[in-house]
Amino acid sequence: MSEKLRIDIMTLFPEFVDFILSESIIGRARRAGTLDIRAHNIRDYSEDKHRRVDDTPYGGGRGMLMAAPPIYRCYKAIEENIRSSSENAEENKPYVIYMSPRGRVFTNEYAKELSEKGNLVILCGHYEGVDERLIEEIVDEEVSIGDYVLTGGEVPACIVADAVGRLVDGVLTLPECHENESFEGGLLEYPQYTRPAVWMGREVPDVLLSGHHANIDKWRHEKSVEITKERRPDLLEKK
Ligand code: ADE
Repeated sequence: MSEKLRIDIMTLFPEFVDFILSESIIGRARRAGTLDIRAHNIRDYSEDKHRRVDDTPYGGGRGMLMAAPPIYRCYKAIEENIRSSSENAEENKPYVIYMSPRGRVFTNEYAKELSEKGNLVILCGHYEGVDERLIEEIVDEEVSIGDYVLTGGEVPACIVADAVGRLVDGVLTLPECHENESFEGGLLEYPQYTRPAVWMGREVPDVLLSGHHANIDKWRHEKSVEITKERRPDLLEKK
């Protein structure tokens, strides 16, 4: 688990990203300084008088592409800022991901890898994508949140920032939150209940009211295995 994480998000909609990542646990961690999340408007780096950042694709075809130069300038400004605020520039070179349906599929395991990076830069695509040369020049890895296509990379970027951010030390207040949740240990989470003990005629399983911790742990593990077998047998095979 890393102790601090800075995430810079390059986007056409910085207010959107900032808003989503200002609430709840991630918002609290940002205010506490545990997570440093900054949204940058790529348009601010356009040299066009209308602040344009897109253009038509060479070779024809539908839609518009995000051009390389404004994104590159935005990235260089972030890199420079990281360098100027750290002692060891090489160690602090940001890891750059580009949100794209073409990328490596995002999982909790991958979130753990990213949470160790120290400095993460996320590029959000729009329109029909970005100029391939920009990807070659600055992107370490393309990342997909699943096999479907969204209208832009902002929602995926928020998902990655949330899943990665919550793994940073001190973001969640109780360390056990990580221990029993879905995907930890390769299993889905067991069912949980709170008061009242009977609701709509449905009773909380007796074992959970027994106070017998060994039996409760055993029951929870069995339920995790049962649910994983039923819903995600692929996880059990991997395990
Ligand atoms: N942008 C559009 N669709 C996406 C997806 N599935 N994952 C990541 N970025 C995307």
